[in-house]
Amino acid sequence: MKFFADTADISEIRELAATGFLDGVTTNPSLIARTGRPIRDVIEEICQAIEGPVSAEVTATDFEGMVAEGERLADIAANVAVKVPSTWDGFKACRTLRQRGRKVNVTLCFSANQALLAAKAGATYISPFVGRLDDLGLDGMEVIREIRRIYDNYESLSTEILASSIRTPLHVKRAAVAGADVATVPPAVLKNLARHPLTDKGLDTFLAEWRKTGQAIF
Ligand code: E4P
Repeated sequence: MKFFADTADISEIRELAATGFLDGVTTNPSLIARTGRPIRDVIEEICQAIEGPVSAEVTATDFEGMVAEGERLADIAANVAVKVPSTWDGFKACRTLRQRGRKVNVTLCFSANQALLAAKAGATYISPFVGRLDDLGLDGMEVIREIRRIYDNYESLSTEILASSIRTPLHVKRAAVAGADVATVPPAVLKNLARHPLTDKGLDTFLAEWRKTGQAIF
């Protein structure tokens, strides 16, 4: 499974990129707004910090506007993936941008049918929002499972499932079990994947016993 960082914070991205675990980055208008900087500068900087795809979202809601904004965003760097919403115009814009050779991430997906349309439009990625469905008392992961089954039914559908709105390590594990191709994860959650209290406890015990020997490893 690939890991994308769901952040527009350049220092967090640089830190994660240095680990070699990071395969890409996703941003959205809220994350860009939090930086307080112009979108072009933020996306350009992120694209220089990481080789993998960097999602940058359009804010137009009509077909022509989305295509025009998508072209401008994609021109920032070769690794930009244009994010368009799961709307009728968004699917049309996805198709056009893909025909022009742009990478497209169809976002704000909350149903398997939206994912089916995105794949038919040739989307590079579909982003089902797991956490926001869970927030409503629904089962966000079930949408990932359904999309996996549907995409696996048709060889011609090559869109990657990008599990989004990931809030916990449990979400990451369940998305991997469900066969999501990618998870986009807030940096704090990504770091928490490494944590287990029994690992910390076991390490403390080993080191305490080791210290008593007075030995050092060469
Ligand atoms: C995906 O690309 C979105 O940026 C993100 O996962 C949304 O997550 P949220 O629901 O925690 O805002």
